[in-house]
Amino acid sequence: MGRIISILMILSCLTQKILTRQNGQFIGASMSFTIINGTNGFEVQLDVISGWVLGLGPCGINCSRASINSNTNITREEVLQKQGDSRFYGNWTVEFKTSSMRYSQVIDINHVVYSSLNERVVDVSQKARWEQVWTVMRYPMIPDAPYMDITFEGLSWRNLSLQGDNAKWHLQMKVEPQLRSDTGKPNNSPQAISKPFYRLLLDKDNYIRVATIDPDGDYVKCSLSEYIEAGIASRLPLPNITVTEDCIITIPSDRSLGYHNGSIGAVGITVRDYNVSGLTLGGRLRSLTAISIQFLVQFLDKINEPIFIFPTLEGNHRFNIYSGTTWKINVYAEPISPALIDRFSCLGRQHEHVEIINVKHTSVPNHVNVKMATITWTPLHTDVGNHILCVGVEDSNG
Ligand SMILES: *[C@@H]1O[C@H](CO)[C@@H](O)[C@H](O)[C@H]1NC(C)=O
Ligand SMILES: *[C@@H]1O[C@H](CO)[C@@H](O)[C@H](O)[C@H]1NC(C)=O
Ligand SMILES: *[C@@H]1O[C@H](CO)[C@@H](O)[C@H](O)[C@H]1NC(C)=O
Ligand SMILES: *[C@@H]1O[C@H](CO)[C@@H](O)[C@H](O)[C@H]1NC(C)=O
Ligand SMILES: *[C@@H]1O[C@H](CO)[C@@H](O)[C@H](O)[C@H]1NC(C)=O
Ligand SMILES: *[C@@H]1O[C@H](CO)[C@@H](O)[C@H](O)[C@H]1NC(C)=O
Ligand SMILES: *[C@@H]1O[C@H](CO)[C@@H](O)[C@H](O)[C@H]1NC(C)=O
Ligand SMILES: *[C@@H]1O[C@H](CO)[C@@H](O)[C@H](O)[C@H]1NC(C)=O
Repeated sequence: MGRIISILMILSCLTQKILTRQNGQFIGASMSFTIINGTNGFEVQLDVISGWVLGLGPCGINCSRASINSNTNITREEVLQKQGDSRFYGNWTVEFKTSSMRYSQVIDINHVVYSSLNERVVDVSQKARWEQVWTVMRYPMIPDAPYMDITFEGLSWRNLSLQGDNAKWHLQMKVEPQLRSDTGKPNNSPQAISKPFYRLLLDKDNYIRVATIDPDGDYVKCSLSEYIEAGIASRLPLPNITVTEDCIITIPSDRSLGYHNGSIGAVGITVRDYNVSGLTLGGRLRSLTAISIQFLVQFLDKINEPIFIFPTLEGNHRFNIYSGTTWKINVYAEPISPALIDRFSCLGRQHEHVEIINVKHTSVPNHVNVKMATITWTPLHTDVGNHILCVGVEDSNG
């Protein structure tokens, strides 16, 4: 019998409508890392999923749905040239201190990071005017450095009516090179998936659950990013926003707090993993690594979006399967009339090869224009561990 693979399925992670009056190209990102024992010794593999305003992102000037799955090696350069700014997609720096250094040092690592870049388009919404890309890059571990703080920042967020124009984005990760006593390997960061963009209702307690897992099985906790970790999103956190340790974000969007119809703001969350054995030994919980996630929220008095309906399993459902077997699940979605369901999508946080098959109309009592799809994935032996898969749906309104 194979070994256990745990899958956390989340619904509706990708596709949402974004309203366009704005400048700024960035609409949110999540980062994580794994440590690779490469040919040049240990390297940090950076894994970033980022959202951009359509046509301004790395997917290129003529980005369309046909671009999904394509490599951005040519289109990214075209946009950078047109913008005349080699840092248009952000600046990478690392802060570290070795035992022989008196003070920590910050160095620019753009050249190294971008020269290892491998990026593909994971999703595009032409009607909603956004694109989402997945970028993998590497940076060598700095010998003798007990920690590395890797930062990704740039100008600018699209206009944030709740936090100001031309706001800088800033995401930060803490990497520690120590080998784990349990696996004998370096620790991997937790991983998280959120949508790049959420539409929320005004005058309501809105809940957003960010899905998190830890590939090493560590204990994971979320918090609002603090100033230094988040840049704009925490310099002015949204009024009365709270986040629980298990990553449930609550935003009470009362007009009395300054939320209006159409308001847009950014949310920054930090996810840390903690040493569970340290906990059971009665020690103080020590954070091993940290990653950040940032996304946009918009508040509206009414939201018309397609929804997943019963008999689809509830969002945030966890499955355990054995390696060597195939995971299969049916999902059902209903559009807001008169739109029609256009497309299902699925994204795995670790490049899992997930397929969407058998998309068809079906009838479900008390619902109209329902379409269903089967999501399927056959994990390999190397996939043993924890996975997040995100299933989205889009209707003909975008
Ligand atoms: C990393 O790789 C080198 C060469 O392949 C090997 O000698 C070493 O044991 C590896 N280290 C770990 C911690 O796996
Ligand atoms: C984009 O499309 C237009 C019109 O089809 C074409 O003229 C132009 O060369 C394209 N640009 C790029 C960078 O592909
Ligand atoms: C871009 O990436 C594609 C797919 O990985 C590859 O076939 C192609 O050779 C690359 N082109 C350049 C200019 O690097
Ligand atoms: C990147 O860093 C350079 C040098 O610190 C700075 O001049 C530039 O404005 C930065 N670019 C962005 C997009 O943040
Ligand atoms: C950004 O939003 C604010 C508040 O809604 C508005 O006053 C400002 O003009 C907007 N800026 C741009 C460039 O759209
Ligand atoms: C917002 O937070 C303040 C301070 O904690 C509290 O007094 C107030 O009741 C909250 N308002 C809403 C609408 O949640
Ligand atoms: C709220 O904003 C949306 C988007 O800008 C707009 O379509 C809608 O008409 C607005 N609602 C009201 C009551 O103004
Ligand atoms: C967790 O803490 C225990 C006790 O302090 C230590 O022996 C172990 O190496 C730590 N594990 C990791 C992954 O750091």
